[in-house]
Amino acid sequence: MWKKHQNLEKNSIWLVIGILVVVSIGGLVEISPLFYLESTIEKVKGVRPYTPLEQAGRDIYVREGCYVCHSQMVRPLRDEVERYGHYSLAAESMYDHPFQWGSKRTGPDLARVGGKYSDDWHRDHLVDPRSVVPESNMPPYRFLAETDLDYRNIEARLAALRSVGVPYSDEQIASAKEDLETQVDPYAGEGSGLKKRYGAKILQRDFDGDPERLTELDALIAYLQMLGTMVDFTTYKAEAPENLR
Ligand code: HEC
Repeated sequence: MWKKHQNLEKNSIWLVIGILVVVSIGGLVEISPLFYLESTIEKVKGVRPYTPLEQAGRDIYVREGCYVCHSQMVRPLRDEVERYGHYSLAAESMYDHPFQWGSKRTGPDLARVGGKYSDDWHRDHLVDPRSVVPESNMPPYRFLAETDLDYRNIEARLAALRSVGVPYSDEQIASAKEDLETQVDPYAGEGSGLKKRYGAKILQRDFDGDPERLTELDALIAYLQMLGTMVDFTTYKAEAPENLR
């Protein structure tokens, strides 16, 4: 046995092939079950695809590179949970393409920032961070308040997400424009289909304090105010996956 092993050790090609074989067995054992387990991402009540306005806001978040300074994942560590709230669940980012977990925290984690501040605070903060947090080094994004939101292709954006697995219905895609406009219109009333299609918890109001215009700031604040609020953690109970019960 040892004699034969010498052959492997002395011949670099065989050694590399041997290493590859051993490592890939380890990899297969670790990775392949994830493709079959139903419970890899457990379903959690409340998690839904983003409304067209939230999705448009999310696209601005990605475009502006907010992830360069902000993560969106509360890790299951005591200091994080005490600071930000319940640790992030896999299901909470199951409809994220691309996900925004991030790896850099120049600013705080944003996974649970929804509802923490008022819309006015977000508007003031994004237009001029130093006006509300004097020691902040976050850059100002005043132009968002001055730029009309371009949502001409919002149906196509939802359809693209559907092609990678986000379960938007035909109806949701067909009414994307209408739903987007309804969400910033506090007077649209209950007759609109937005809440029927996305749930009663949807925040529907003018987010940027300028009811005359539908700006990029409207979309970004709608997105921020929703973050981390889909799951009701007063009733949520973590359950062991079925195969481990
Ligand atoms: C250069 C790094 C940097 C970038 C880029 C950046 N931020 Fe920040 N952000 C910070 C810092 C630092 C703070 C903490 C001080 C403060 O509140 O301004 C912060 C705070 C925040 C807060 C308040 C969080 C809390 O819990 O108090 C929000 C919301 C926020 N940023 C959103 C954004 C959004 C949206 C973008 C992209 C448009 C963005 N940030 C881009 C650095 C950054």
